[in-house]
Amino acid sequence: MEKKKLKFMDFCAGIGAGRLGLQNLGLECVGFSEIDKNAERTYREFFGYEEKNYGDLMKINPNDLPDFDLMIAGFPCQSFSVIGQRKGMNDLRGQIIYGLIKIMNAKNLPYFILENVKGLTNHDNGRTFKIILEELDKTGYKVFSKVLSSLHYGVPQMRERIYFVGIRKDLIENSEKFEWPKQEKTPKIENYLIDDSELEFDEKKSAYETFLRFLNNKYNKGLFKIEDLLKEDYLVLDTRQSDLRLYTNKVPTLRTGRHGILYVKKGKFRKLSGFESLLLQGFPKSLAEKVKGKIADIYLLSQAGNAMTVSSIQSIGNNLLKYVKE
Ligand SMILES: C[S@@+](CC[C@H](N)C(=O)[O-])C[C@H]1O[C@@H](n2cnc3c(N)ncnc32)[C@H](O)[C@@H]1O
Repeated sequence: MEKKKLKFMDFCAGIGAGRLGLQNLGLECVGFSEIDKNAERTYREFFGYEEKNYGDLMKINPNDLPDFDLMIAGFPCQSFSVIGQRKGMNDLRGQIIYGLIKIMNAKNLPYFILENVKGLTNHDNGRTFKIILEELDKTGYKVFSKVLSSLHYGVPQMRERIYFVGIRKDLIENSEKFEWPKQEKTPKIENYLIDDSELEFDEKKSAYETFLRFLNNKYNKGLFKIEDLLKEDYLVLDTRQSDLRLYTNKVPTLRTGRHGILYVKKGKFRKLSGFESLLLQGFPKSLAEKVKGKIADIYLLSQAGNAMTVSSIQSIGNNLLKYVKE
């Protein structure tokens, strides 16, 4: 039986990784909300300049939104510990999650997928997570949550995130459970580290000098030989902590700041590029090529570091569709 084509809205849209995951399943995006102008520029390069950005979701009047069936949001992790400072519930209402809940309520929304950092689960001794689950439950949703790593859902990136799937209580039996997608084999990293633009990390550049000093700091001194490191093609080097961390067939979690991920290719060190970081978040080459050389790498690396993984959302969305009643 053919499923109804679900409509969704993309909140805290970033560069639209969540959107793409759902579009790949045939769902239709009817609008987005994002406050960061740089992220919006990349988003528009990917998805077009015509659509309306509804802007700050905390200021949206839900009546101004089109109708939709599903909300997707990778909402920022904000501190809920104001409770501890006896500031009371009113202050909490300023949190993004309450803005999202207000929209869910007003729209009597059937479904949502939310994403956040894994640390949310033990933030403030687990209190933040508990409050979010209780609030979503009170709003009328059966909520399922699970930490999944992108490594098992289509990209060679270690990226553990907490996902929330919400189904309005009248649309799911009380005894029914959401079935999380099964783990898949991690694809080969060779297909992701493919940026052959100018080598940014050769011996002549000052970044290389900095790297040599890093290898000689008190944590790394004597542990690594350059010629050994250079022997292994696609060895990934993470220089973001004081100690050098090495990975094979995967990259560590891409993050907004501190970009220092390098890898070895054909006997040279290379810096992970913005283009490659988009691929490692599941964006297809055709989209990543649209912004390569057009939007500076410093932005693309940050934006990819902030994004969801397209293929993880696609897998979760695919399973959510099984619960969609005609
Ligand atoms: C963790 S990122 C999520 C990125 C996105 N899910 C993606 O795949 O690229 C959170 C995003 O929420 C946006 N944001 C924060 N507060 C917002 C608000 N009040 N209204 C709309 N967007 C907001 C930030 O600018 C940021 O891009």
